[in-house]
Amino acid sequence: MNIDNNSSSNRGHWTSAFGFIMAAAGSAVGLGNLWKFPYLVGQNGGSAFIVIYALLLLFIGIPLVIAEITIGRFGQLNPVGSYGLISPKLKWIGAMGLVTGFILLAFYPVVGGWIVYYLYHSFVSVGENPDYAKIFADYTSNPTLPIITLFIFSILNYIIVALGVEKGIEKYSKIMMPALLVILVIVMIRTLSLEGSWEGVKFIFQPDFSKVTGKVILSAVGQVFFSLSLGMGALMTYGSYLSKKDNLFKSSISIPFIDTLVALLATIAIMPAVFAFKFEPAAGPSLIFVTLPAIFAKMPMGVFISAIFFILMLFAALTSSISMLEGLVSYMIDRWHWKRFTATTIIALIVFLLGIPCSLSFGMLKDVTIFSNKTIFDSMDFLASNILLPLGGILMAICVGWIWDGGLRYETIIVKNQKGNPDVITNGYVFNSCLMEITNQGTLNFPFMSAWIFIVKWVAPLVIFLIFIDNL
Ligand code: PFF
Repeated sequence: MNIDNNSSSNRGHWTSAFGFIMAAAGSAVGLGNLWKFPYLVGQNGGSAFIVIYALLLLFIGIPLVIAEITIGRFGQLNPVGSYGLISPKLKWIGAMGLVTGFILLAFYPVVGGWIVYYLYHSFVSVGENPDYAKIFADYTSNPTLPIITLFIFSILNYIIVALGVEKGIEKYSKIMMPALLVILVIVMIRTLSLEGSWEGVKFIFQPDFSKVTGKVILSAVGQVFFSLSLGMGALMTYGSYLSKKDNLFKSSISIPFIDTLVALLATIAIMPAVFAFKFEPAAGPSLIFVTLPAIFAKMPMGVFISAIFFILMLFAALTSSISMLEGLVSYMIDRWHWKRFTATTIIALIVFLLGIPCSLSFGMLKDVTIFSNKTIFDSMDFLASNILLPLGGILMAICVGWIWDGGLRYETIIVKNQKGNPDVITNGYVFNSCLMEITNQGTLNFPFMSAWIFIVKWVAPLVIFLIFIDNL
């Protein structure tokens, strides 16, 4: 089979396994870890939420990360092309991922723009006893300022993707990701050494299961998919730049671990400060933009900590949004043979325009609602995170578990012995193309293979389906 049938020869490759891991972990580590995860923990019963998240991560998230990267590495193409190589009838799953990409890129960079603004704000004095809730509301409801900061963020995003896989995405991920980890540890040490911070640590690790409802579980599923960048094809696209010689399992498995580590470290960095300064842990989305600036203002070395914290946020948001953009750009390059520069320019422009109504939904358009009283911004977030990403995940699991070369199945393998008579060798899993891809044609070990197959075939589709039904 000619797997390069409609790819262009210059689509790019990672220069090292480390480069891939930094880029893919960069995609995963983002606002989901630093902004959403801590406030979801705060709102949904502390570690009760963490326990549910961890279970879903282990039994659904990690196996699907491996599945998604495998499809990409197999196809060496964008999501539509890679699904199309499994079966032309499956291309629409990839296309659905592209639509999800546009929706994500409509709202995600808006928050990226907020970070640019708050980074700038870290250095300017906002006067005696400022009202941070008002500062946030005034800024986000301003008709032009958030669009200017959205533009600045979008330009950074654009430049990195336009520079290409090796010289842009890989190079900058290798700088931004390690820097991000170092900054996170510095911030964490600073907040843990505040007086009264221990209450926050206790809050994180003391479960309150009474807060766990169906809705909380759905938001935990959404969070697993969002945080791992699963279900739209971003990881698939990154997987397509892996070479056929790389150890796919080994490189993939570190991504969910880095992602979860950062989410936990971020929570441990933020919650103790919230408690030390007697703020409300369940503040929700305003935690980072209202509560934290107020805390930084009161903290010794606050200006420094605030500045490095928003640099950390900026790096996290950028490495994620470049992966969303790359998913769309790779499709234009593979399918329509566009030059990277042209593809990136046009798509970046379209998503910038899509971002404007999302940004205005905190001001001028705040009364425009789409789903059950949700603003344009919240509707895009809900549609992408809670519906389209998990749906993309179910379809991917069904595709790998049941469709790709007849699906993953358990069979008695019979071969002929020297005399030509059938000889039962073993009961085992048929090495179809998917398993062949993960194991580099059977030459590499694939730990937990049976468990993985069981999860991809049965657990992941059923659990996501049941949670959907429960919420509808
Ligand atoms: N994983 C990113 C985060 O946690 O912020 C968000 C994300 C990136 C979602 C890429 C989906 C995606 F394809």
